[in-house]
Amino acid sequence: MRKVFVAGNWKMNGDRQSIARLLDGFAARVAASPGIDVAVFPPFVYVPAVGERLAGTGIGLGAQDLSEQASGAFTGEVSGAMLRDCGCQYVIVGHSERRRLHDESDAIVAAKCRAAFAAGLTPVVCVGEILEERDAGTTLAVVERQVAALFDGVAPSSLAGVVLAYEPVWAIGTGRTATPAQAQEVHGHVRGLLAARDAALGAGTRILYGGSVTADNAADLFAMADVDGALVGGASLKADQFAAICAAGARRR
Ligand code: PGA
Repeated sequence: MRKVFVAGNWKMNGDRQSIARLLDGFAARVAASPGIDVAVFPPFVYVPAVGERLAGTGIGLGAQDLSEQASGAFTGEVSGAMLRDCGCQYVIVGHSERRRLHDESDAIVAAKCRAAFAAGLTPVVCVGEILEERDAGTTLAVVERQVAALFDGVAPSSLAGVVLAYEPVWAIGTGRTATPAQAQEVHGHVRGLLAARDAALGAGTRILYGGSVTADNAADLFAMADVDGALVGGASLKADQFAAICAAGARRR
């Protein structure tokens, strides 16, 4: 059985004070959600401090991006090894905001995924269509292309342990969530794509849903067979919301 995973992507929000309040607000309650994986993804500069506060809570730590390079003259970049060194277990790769605002291509996303594995991190790779693509009926083809890029030049087994996040771009930060049926359609398709490459990868890979997940809709999304958790943006900045989403995840188990 795939373990439910609830991930909080804080994006570029917070400061030392508000982050301390947020962690005080949910850490104890979330630690009481046994049997699921929970992790938060602060901005780079807060990663070490958040890691210290999370010690002993069972809540995991991740970053929002990494360089595809291992080290060197890449001003402003952060390597996977640095993230490991600062206590990260996870890293988000290919978030739609990176793809859109920083022109991250499928090939770069795939390179970052490989760099994450090379550093001993679990990549949480985001895929998803924009509204025009959904309206044009190309959602599955878009996601197929994004997933296929991850397999370029690597053995399927080397992706064991990857976490995927289906995030329809039109649902991110808009309050417009995909219906559970819309999510399941894509999740089921993605699982089929993985299984076609490697049966164990298909059966074992966790596929999270992301896009306006809240305490109100999490349980319905988690009820879908191929939705293994959530990548939560806005609601992860509210202690009560995030704790409630984690509780819904614990009930799904
Ligand atoms: P949202 O963001 O929950 O605020 O829609 C999700 C994400 O971008 O990961």
